[in-house]
Amino acid sequence: MTLPRLAPIGVFDSGVGGLSILQALQSQLPHESFVYLADSGFAPYGERDEAFVLQRAHHVLHTLLQQHQIKALVVACNTATALAIHELRQAYPDLPVFGVEPAIKPAALQSQTHRVGVMATAGTLGSAKFQELQRSLQDQAEFVLQACDGLADAIEQQWQTPDDQTVRGLCEKYLHAMGEFGVDSRQIDTLVLGCTHYPFAKPVIQRIVGPDVRLIDNGQPVAKRVAQVLHDKGLLVTDALEPKLHLLATGETRNLQSAAVAWLNLSAPVSVV
Ligand code: DGL
Repeated sequence: MTLPRLAPIGVFDSGVGGLSILQALQSQLPHESFVYLADSGFAPYGERDEAFVLQRAHHVLHTLLQQHQIKALVVACNTATALAIHELRQAYPDLPVFGVEPAIKPAALQSQTHRVGVMATAGTLGSAKFQELQRSLQDQAEFVLQACDGLADAIEQQWQTPDDQTVRGLCEKYLHAMGEFGVDSRQIDTLVLGCTHYPFAKPVIQRIVGPDVRLIDNGQPVAKRVAQVLHDKGLLVTDALEPKLHLLATGETRNLQSAAVAWLNLSAPVSVV
């Protein structure tokens, strides 16, 4: 497989959540072209079984390779990373494939109370990959895990009003279930947003947990890693005249279209694949 330097980077998620990663990628890699695919016809992923997510991830990658000849893939979804990235890398050993996972390592390092909250989908928290990561850090902090069923979907549907009642109600329910937030001992002082949809509800979450609690997501670290690996492989574009962006969806296009405009100021039309 040849990987032309000017080919686009593929980015995918079940829906609009991965735009939080695309935003970081675009600021770190301003000359690269991107193809963003929202698998909206098959979302949400978070409460599906492993076989389903694996099959969708393979299908999406195949589509991006066939139709857009991507030179790298960013799985901008914690759930798909947890359940499918290993198989994707095995199936396409020559393609750089990047994933995102809940940033519990930096969170454990930064927490002063050594109590770290993790909000993610049930699929992510139940995965062997996440459990292994958590085990590797068990001496560094105590992790309070919360599967947030329905939250990604609510953010997906209500992106226009992140302070929407459903989103706020779910955030309140799940955050209250996690215990006390704050900077005193035994309180959770660091909260990991372990699903790429959740950063879009940051203001609501911050209001509930209070201003002293640090919220951590993984947009910047993954963007830096992508830049480094592409540079090392001689695949980084540093001088394209006009980087391109394609937005694709496998189902409903309205959410992606409007969220791209509202959050990223991107007005590229969304094509159905
Ligand atoms: N945005 C995805 C993640 O980071 C999942 C949302 C979903 O489809 O449930 O896990």
